[in-house]
Amino acid sequence: MINFKELAATYKTPLYIYDLDYMTNQYKKLKEAFRGRKSIIAYAIKANSNLSVVNHFASLGSGADCVSIGEVRRALLAGVANYKIIFSGVGKSDAEIREAIQKDILYINLESEAELGRVELIAKELDVVCRISIRVNPNIDPQTHPYISTGLHDNKFGVDINTAKRMYIRANNSQYLEPVGIHFHIGSQLTELKPIYESAEIVADMVRSLMGIKIELKFFDIGGGLGITYKDEVTIEPYDYAQAILSTLKGLDLTIICEPGRFLTANGGYFLTKVLYEKQNGEKRFVVVDGGMNDLLRPSLYNAYHKIEAITDSKTNESEADVVGPVCESGDFFAKNYMLPKLEHNDLLLIHSAGAYGFGMGSNYNTRGRSAEVAIKDGKAKLIRRREEFEDLIALEKEFLVK
Ligand code: LLP
Repeated sequence: MINFKELAATYKTPLYIYDLDYMTNQYKKLKEAFRGRKSIIAYAIKANSNLSVVNHFASLGSGADCVSIGEVRRALLAGVANYKIIFSGVGKSDAEIREAIQKDILYINLESEAELGRVELIAKELDVVCRISIRVNPNIDPQTHPYISTGLHDNKFGVDINTAKRMYIRANNSQYLEPVGIHFHIGSQLTELKPIYESAEIVADMVRSLMGIKIELKFFDIGGGLGITYKDEVTIEPYDYAQAILSTLKGLDLTIICEPGRFLTANGGYFLTKVLYEKQNGEKRFVVVDGGMNDLLRPSLYNAYHKIEAITDSKTNESEADVVGPVCESGDFFAKNYMLPKLEHNDLLLIHSAGAYGFGMGSNYNTRGRSAEVAIKDGKAKLIRRREEFEDLIALEKEFLVK
């Protein structure tokens, strides 16, 4: 049991807390589901890119799925092996491509024909062969929130099957490109297996048709997207997920690459915030806390549900309240009409499922420093990022001050 009161007293609030032991279990569950097959779990570090968290997964043997050269550098710094790093994303700059090639990562995941041209040119300039994969957009509706759906032609990600085939042929004929993988990722927070299975089938068929023209791939990259329970969602079991994928690969000897982010970290993370005041505007009850949308954006951005637990001695009956932060936006809330007991100044609210897309989507809006981050490992707490102070926030402007 994590003692949140003690953590608040030691590290102050608002505070992110990550249970690395939980994350280990999630990692092992997924790895185990693919047993009997060569597989790499390439942790999608955008979900939670704290160096200690990435390092923790690296120590378990994880690779990394990265979407910027900053993330590639983070992964390497945190000890992820270069040959387990993938670089995806629709808009890689020339400088990013060059550095990724020089760092000799596993492959660059191409998301357009134009990008293939740039990568080829840069590999030629460097006089090396660059391993590539192509992100196929299978045009399947993942049945998730539209902001985190990526596998439809309406979305900016990947290329359609025909374009992909053309790109594989072009890459295969190039002296500077080596096609090694195929990739799809249809969306995030997926709770339905069918769209994943249907996408895998389309992509596996593509692998077979490429074999027919002597293009032999090694990696079958199934993206991330496994959903978690925020409230009452029924999620996909890792075993069923793995079986569904593997059933599409009959006769194909490919290494599975899986890029989970949320599944590994979300429910191992908590955001701890302190009650400042209660207030009543007419009929409406507000609980004002010291954390804001600049710390945890998901409720404001997606209207996402995060369970909130009151850590208080209050024994009053619960009534509905909006839990809001100090940021000057009406959209700065963690929950609306949430049942909570009467709260006192300094009571704590524990916001659950905050280990993925929490801290990383934070900002300094309203000149608010980002929270500290603490990790729990083997039951012990350790600071893994100090709280941002005012001086940190102005450091990059101060010397340029126009007087
Ligand atoms: N692989 C690729 C290519 C991705 O685009 C993503 C997530 C992942 C893997 C990891 O997906 P996961 O396993 O975490 O579902 N900010 C949103 C989520 C954005 C996901 C973007 N891509 C949220 O807070 O729900």
